[in-house]
Amino acid sequence: MYIIFEGIDGAGKSTQIEIIKNWLIDNGLEVETLVEPTDSEIGVMIREILKYPDATTDRMQKTLGLLFAADRMLIMDKLDDNKKVFLSDRSFISSLAYQEPKEWIETLNRYVKKPDLVLLLDVDVENSASRFSGEDEFENKEFLTNIRANYLDVIKNFDYEIINANNGINKVSSDIKKAIAPKVGLCKDCIR
Ligand code: TYD
Repeated sequence: MYIIFEGIDGAGKSTQIEIIKNWLIDNGLEVETLVEPTDSEIGVMIREILKYPDATTDRMQKTLGLLFAADRMLIMDKLDDNKKVFLSDRSFISSLAYQEPKEWIETLNRYVKKPDLVLLLDVDVENSASRFSGEDEFENKEFLTNIRANYLDVIKNFDYEIINANNGINKVSSDIKKAIAPKVGLCKDCIR
């Protein structure tokens, strides 16, 4: 079972993954969490490049697309383990939302495992962008609005659930549990 958590930066993905992981373990399931970019050498390289001021240029986006896809390939064979529930913080869906051009990214990720469920933690762009101060704020708002629109478009191709991540942590996790329960054979109506 491959469950992907997506959303713009600041949506609370890592906090929720931790909560959901513990909930699934408490219910007797075997769980493994994944994070992209990974901690491989390629992942380390990606995090360095993301700090460059020209990380958003066309050329860099194409290069990043390659690196993200290569980094991802390193964890793909893990996912063949059918006994486990994999909870992933980001995936190829991030590449489709963040990198360009679309056809290029689709080609690079053609052999990536497709998810059983995509959870889009949808947070208000205003909230997320306000974390950046001054001049960056407007630019970030535009950027994040664009990413959010890309997400809404991309997830349509998969089994997905949009989770309102502006709510408190408990409400968000309970909404996520309700979305996951039927996928892993747990009782949805038992969740408050
Ligand atoms: P992440 O560690 O989730 O960001 P943060 O810790 O800052 O919230 O991811 C790092 C960045 O990488 C994030 O801005 C999204 C971006 N990213 C892509 O652009 N494409 C991808 O395929 C992936 C996996 C991440």
